[in-house]
Amino acid sequence: MNTLGYFITFEGVEGSGKSTQIRYLSNSLISRNLSTTLTREPGGCPIADKIRAILLDADNSAMSAMAELMLYAAARAQHVNEVIAPALSDGGIVLCDRFCDATVAYQSYGRGLDRSIIDTLNSHACSGISPDLTVLIDCDPRVGLERARRRIELSSGPREERFELEAIAFHQRVRSGYNQLAIDEPQRFVIVDGAGTVEGIALEISAAVLARIPEGLRAIS
Ligand code: TMP
Repeated sequence: MNTLGYFITFEGVEGSGKSTQIRYLSNSLISRNLSTTLTREPGGCPIADKIRAILLDADNSAMSAMAELMLYAAARAQHVNEVIAPALSDGGIVLCDRFCDATVAYQSYGRGLDRSIIDTLNSHACSGISPDLTVLIDCDPRVGLERARRRIELSSGPREERFELEAIAFHQRVRSGYNQLAIDEPQRFVIVDGAGTVEGIALEISAAVLARIPEGLRAIS
């Protein structure tokens, strides 16, 4: 349970459109005068951003699955402590682009690591904080990867493509993993079809979120 605030996470395969959609939702909540923190994983604070650069660098193809898992957990522990927990304690809404479900989908379903190790690390990294609501944008990985690769080609920043270079079968397992997580916890998940228009998906997400968030969340001061 999270004291005071409300914690919403966005999940989906590469190129599912979640980063665009989370920005739409953030703007929509801010326009309703709700104090909103928009953040992402891996990253979200200076130390975790440095870990992100290591995790996503395509030159690090030799990274073992266990080293990868522990780096995600380390980045999360710092991010929860420095950003997420304080914003929730302050009574605000936190929107996070990926969180613990990504570790289960990618490192367990994708890489095949033992789920119990992942659950243990996630619970240590999160200090009791868990999402109140998770928006899963379901998308065919072939469509998503095409979109993600186009975005990487157009970007002038670092080539964060270690996962985009994985085989399609890996991404299919990640998608199935996410869908299984949503089946296991139907009260927490809202599944949205990523094949719709950007505006249509944004409206669907905003309606689902507004129907669920509690009264009395912190207003923008
Ligand atoms: P992004 O592309 O949404 O910024 O996410 C970065 C990559 O990190 C993406 O390929 C998914 C991957 N990832 C994991 O494998 N495990 C995790 O726990 C998280 C948060 C992300």
